Amino acid sequence: MSHVMNTYARLPVAFSHGKGSRVTDTEGREYLDALSGIAVNTLGHAHPKLVAAIAEQAGRLIHTSNLYGVTGQDKLADKLCALSGMQEVFFCNSGCEANEAAIKLARFYGHKKGIELPTLIVMDKSFHGRTMATLSATGNYKVQVGFEPLVAGFVRVPYGDLDAIRAVAEHHRNIVGVMLEVIQGEGGIHLRDAAYYRGVREICDAHEWLMICDEVQCGMGRTGKWFGYQQVGVQPDVATLAKGLGSGVPIGACMAGGRAAGLFGPGNHGSTFGGKPLACTGSEGGGGGEGGRARGGAGCL
Ligand SMILES: Cc1ncc(COP(=O)(O)O)c(C=O)c1O
Repeated sequence: MSHVMNTYARLPVAFSHGKGSRVTDTEGREYLDALSGIAVNTLGHAHPKLVAAIAEQAGRLIHTSNLYGVTGQDKLADKLCALSGMQEVFFCNSGCEANEAAIKLARFYGHKKGIELPTLIVMDKSFHGRTMATLSATGNYKVQVGFEPLVAGFVRVPYGDLDAIRAVAEHHRNIVGVMLEVIQGEGGIHLRDAAYYRGVREICDAHEWLMICDEVQCGMGRTGKWFGYQQVGVQPDVATLAKGLGSGVPIGACMAGGRAAGLFGPGNHGSTFGGKPLACTGSEGGGGGEGGRARGGAGCL
């Protein structure tokens, strides 16, 4: 009997190694890896530049602490901001952590404006993670059932419905922002035309709300531009990343710009492992540039 906690319905296969877009299982059978670790292995398996960068960094310094400067973190933040139009980046380890940071940022923003119970508008069929705040923001009952009481501070609307957001704006005095995926991933592949996202941006601006884009799944080049919101011509105040950012090395990021920039100060948020040297080092691991095939990863920025 396995001593691993039974949280996944696993297929009866395990992999021993991979190269590019192919993986080989422990019985020696080769597969085309169309899943890519659930939108993670943006550079494919065993990319020589990423492998070399990680190996070199591991031999020098895997971890120090965010009590000190982390050179690779500064460089990666510079590159992400140049690509995303954001001003600053908080580094963490996963998508749910990046979204936790975004939710905290929104609440902090609300409190600074004198809103006592800051509330975010979130979407039906969304997925934002499995921590208590992010599963509460998620628009899927299956993810939530058994874990009540949910975290308060979220109002849900149908995805694609600008009037629903306007209606909430009319009656709810505590709204501080709208959080959405430009392409809903886990909820099915749902997207709307560009006018919808521009409409959300306009409503956010009219009410001085934050527009928060969860780019954990649709970001890092997976749409052909670096970020999904660039495909629809909007600039959010906050965008979250993980998955493909490290091409397999765990790293998440909460990027802030516009009215979300400069909110946090020392002590407002933190992470022991977030943005550690090993995770950031891949930022110098290879070539890059916006373009045709899905790419990304700290390793190819
Ligand atoms: C859009 C989106 N946000 C957040 C998450 C959570 O990311 P993680 O599993 O790294 O916590 C996921 C994971 O599938 C996702 O697709």
